[in-house]
Amino acid sequence: MKIYIDSADIEEIKKAKEYGICDGVTTNPSLIKIAIEKLKAKGQGVEMEQYIKMMCELLGKNRPINLEVISLKAEEMVKEAETLFKKFNSVANNVVIKIPVCTAKQEGEDYFEGLKAISALKKKDIPTNATLVMTPEQALLASKAGADYVSPFAGRIDDLIRKNMGINFNKNDYFPAEGLISEGKIVSDNGIVSGVDLLKKVKQIFDNYGIKTKIIAASLRNARQVREVAEIGIEIATVPFDVLVDMMKHIKTFEGILKFSEDVLPEYKKLFE
Ligand code: E4P
Repeated sequence: MKIYIDSADIEEIKKAKEYGICDGVTTNPSLIKIAIEKLKAKGQGVEMEQYIKMMCELLGKNRPINLEVISLKAEEMVKEAETLFKKFNSVANNVVIKIPVCTAKQEGEDYFEGLKAISALKKKDIPTNATLVMTPEQALLASKAGADYVSPFAGRIDDLIRKNMGINFNKNDYFPAEGLISEGKIVSDNGIVSGVDLLKKVKQIFDNYGIKTKIIAASLRNARQVREVAEIGIEIATVPFDVLVDMMKHIKTFEGILKFSEDVLPEYKKLFE
């Protein structure tokens, strides 16, 4: 499985690359805000264009960097995508444009602006990642419109189910892939019992029809969720840095390293001199 780093923090991306575990990066306006505010808090000024160019260069041509548009209308999103692509793809030929699958903020607004933009960008050979995918149906339509990637948001579906059940939770809490039971029944959001179940259903549909659009498991909140999307064969997981840390920790590994360190014989240590 490919691991993208779900972050716009260049230090985190550098570290993940150094650890040999970074196959790409996904950003969104919220992640850019977090990264830039962190730098500003340290008293560092940031020139945005330069900063993004640095990320593109750091990743290089084999690691995609996903940059998101900000408008809600197809025509404007296409223009923004062209601008982002023109400005940044020349750096390392690795830019993918994130387009929200649906830009309606409420019922009754136009639901199809995202698809229109994806379809127009396909014709212009600009690669797209349909973001904010919350249902297999949205993923199916995004793939038909020509999205190169779809990003189903696992964690936000878990949030929604827990909220509807009135459960208090921390966003990184584990949510069982098989769902939660209330009054003897598994609770679902229109038949989706968990974020991992959303990914499973998107994969099933894409496999049924040999759809080539790649699936990026997004909005992942903990190590077990990453494992569970790997178990169902999802090709790419975009993982925040704290979740990478969560993936590495184990009490028996800590204990093991402590014991190995204690047991080193002087004769064995001498070998390394
Ligand atoms: C990545 O493409 C998404 O923007 C990101 O995973 C969203 O994660 P969140 O739901 O934790 O904000």
